[in-house]
Amino acid sequence: MPYVNTKDILEKANKEYYAIAAFNINNLEFLQAIVEAGIEKRSPIIIETSEGAMKYAGLGDPLRGARIFVKMVREFADTLNIPISLHLDHGKDFKYIMAAIKAGYSSVMIDASDKPFEENVRITKDIVRIAHAVGVSVEAELGKLAGIEDNVFSAENVLVNPDEAKKFVEETSVDFLAPAIGTSHGAFKFKGEAKLDFERLKKVKELTGIPLVLHGASSVVQEMVDIAEKYGADFGGSKGVPSDILKETVKLGINKVNTDTDLRMAFIAGLREFLHNDSKEFDPRKYMKTAKEYVKKVVIDRMELLGSAEKA
Ligand code: G3H
Ligand code: 13P
Ligand code: ZN
Repeated sequence: MPYVNTKDILEKANKEYYAIAAFNINNLEFLQAIVEAGIEKRSPIIIETSEGAMKYAGLGDPLRGARIFVKMVREFADTLNIPISLHLDHGKDFKYIMAAIKAGYSSVMIDASDKPFEENVRITKDIVRIAHAVGVSVEAELGKLAGIEDNVFSAENVLVNPDEAKKFVEETSVDFLAPAIGTSHGAFKFKGEAKLDFERLKKVKELTGIPLVLHGASSVVQEMVDIAEKYGADFGGSKGVPSDILKETVKLGINKVNTDTDLRMAFIAGLREFLHNDSKEFDPRKYMKTAKEYVKKVVIDRMELLGSAEKA
């Protein structure tokens, strides 16, 4: 299966009512673990990188970083039998978005969600025009993902306005939309009970019909927290989006589930465990083995939970 447009993966998921987890990477090892999981579960794969990841991989040069990621991802896509795409996550800087498009990413996110509605429309429209001209699909965001201190669930001005979402999609022709419904990035998402605004999500789906994206969707897997803490980490107070809530969002129209924190936590759990148990190893291919296995396990669990297994 060739390297595909993210839009193709998501439109199929939209029609068939399942979701694909989009996994953030910064290096080869996470990519290897995700690809192995995809092969085993016969799931399509969406790989994404942040602007920071592009800069990191390219030693400060985002275009070089973007090209490195395209080469790595394309090589797996061209030699495997599952659809794989590469997406720019939270593109905010025009230079980074252009670098991703130029390097050959299959989709980009333009995140102007911190701007007033009309400005978000104008900026998103501009990126859509450029990206669509070269066959790259576009994700945008409406509403804001707040930090744990904000009472996100009840904050009308922070969460997406469904009528605005309809207008936004009509005016921008964006391919997929991330509506803020109460999640936040990182490992500390909720102080009390985990709660998302399902009603709002349902309305956004009814009014737009396009594939929807859930950001800040990591579950903060307790098994990984426990292993990491057993070997010295301190993740006290961490809390993610529980699996049953994620499943409900998929029923209501989420098709792309952005996941970074869960993989980072799985990797550090495995790395800490290995290093604790083996004080002599210094070959990175060996001391990263458990870390990669745990990342793969978390990826497989997501593919099964979200319904993307056997959809390749
Ligand atoms: O939403 C952001 C992602 O988790 C990536 O974050 O800027 O640390 O690479 P990053
Ligand atoms: P998490 O921090 O919940 O993994 O969210 C990642 C994300 O939304 C990337 O865009
Ligand atoms: Zn995000």
